[in-house]
Amino acid sequence: MIEPAVHLRSANLTELEYLALNSELNMADGHARQELTDGQQRIVEEFPTLFEKAAAQPVEDLEREAHRAFLHLLGQHSYPAGRVLSCYASSVAMEILARSLATRTDAVALVHPTFDNIPDILRGVGLRLVPVEEDPLHAGAPLPDGVGCVFVTTPNNPTGRVLTAERLAALAAECREKDVVLALDTSFRGFDPRAHYDHYAILESSGCRWTVIEDTGKLWPTLDLKVGLLVYSANVGLPVAKIYSDILLGVSPFILALVERFAEDAASGGLADLHAFIAEGRRIVHETLGDVPGVAFPDADSVVSVERVDLGDRRCADIWSALQDRQVYVLPCTQFHWADPGLGERSLRVALARSHTSLQAAVRELRSVLLAG
Ligand SMILES: Cc1ncc(COP(=O)(O)O)c(C=O)c1O
Repeated sequence: MIEPAVHLRSANLTELEYLALNSELNMADGHARQELTDGQQRIVEEFPTLFEKAAAQPVEDLEREAHRAFLHLLGQHSYPAGRVLSCYASSVAMEILARSLATRTDAVALVHPTFDNIPDILRGVGLRLVPVEEDPLHAGAPLPDGVGCVFVTTPNNPTGRVLTAERLAALAAECREKDVVLALDTSFRGFDPRAHYDHYAILESSGCRWTVIEDTGKLWPTLDLKVGLLVYSANVGLPVAKIYSDILLGVSPFILALVERFAEDAASGGLADLHAFIAEGRRIVHETLGDVPGVAFPDADSVVSVERVDLGDRRCADIWSALQDRQVYVLPCTQFHWADPGLGERSLRVALARSHTSLQAAVRELRSVLLAG
């Protein structure tokens, strides 16, 4: 068990997520841990057939079909089919991008706050980071000078903020003008229909150098059988394909076949059901905590599978050991504020992709800790 306060501050978010893995009340990581729907359960029952299909079919076909099913599900009709690299996870795609960027630039402008493994991976290859706050980013403020890449998580984790089509077009035009790579992480886009406009149509027509990281891993409770996709422009000018080949040959054909089947199920009603499921989880959090003095929900427009909770005067460190005593795991927002951790110390993040019974039990415990503190 980690010591409250000291380790809470120095741990990265994934280290805090490890602690939660064996708890019923794990509301920490953003992975999908809800129960399978009936449609998804039927796919799981077909696993032997799916395995045979994956073993028999050429990987190239499986890959093309999985990419197509997943990206069309999310409105990304103009993705360039010949420039999609399948990775074991989106963090692997991120590592490949970071290593590629480090061959051409020494600085990246990165949205603030965001999930800490993005800045950690970028810093890990020696890149200097310049924070770009969300309000100016979305309002159209000019990008910082002296960077070789602008990196935006949309929808963002943990805030749920989404780049509009107009803003994406303007950013892409600015990046083209300044010859800066525009990099997006859209891992959470499945949850938010406002992120389902065709990003690739805008990026391709802008003429800018761009990359996009997509992720099947946040949506479906597939026990972390998932892929991350690294998609890039023809003119990206980065050795992404070469560095990909330094790291992996490809992902499991079985997982590709699985992604295709889950995407088909989602297209025939499963995605709308998932949106309703997450909305109900959010309602449970709001209803259970809404009348606790000082508590507020800062992301009124968010529909992603995580919810931030402001704690008023309380700091996460003040309630951490009481939560651990009750086996309740959430994430402090400190580490999301990678450039200024103090900004996140009075809020926490609750994961919503969980059974409603566990979520309800966890937020009830959180409520009683907050009322006692
Ligand atoms: C925005 C974002 N991108 C990437 C990742 C990394 O995902 P994975 O752990 O599947 O590699 C996360 C993890 O939560 C995330 O929030």
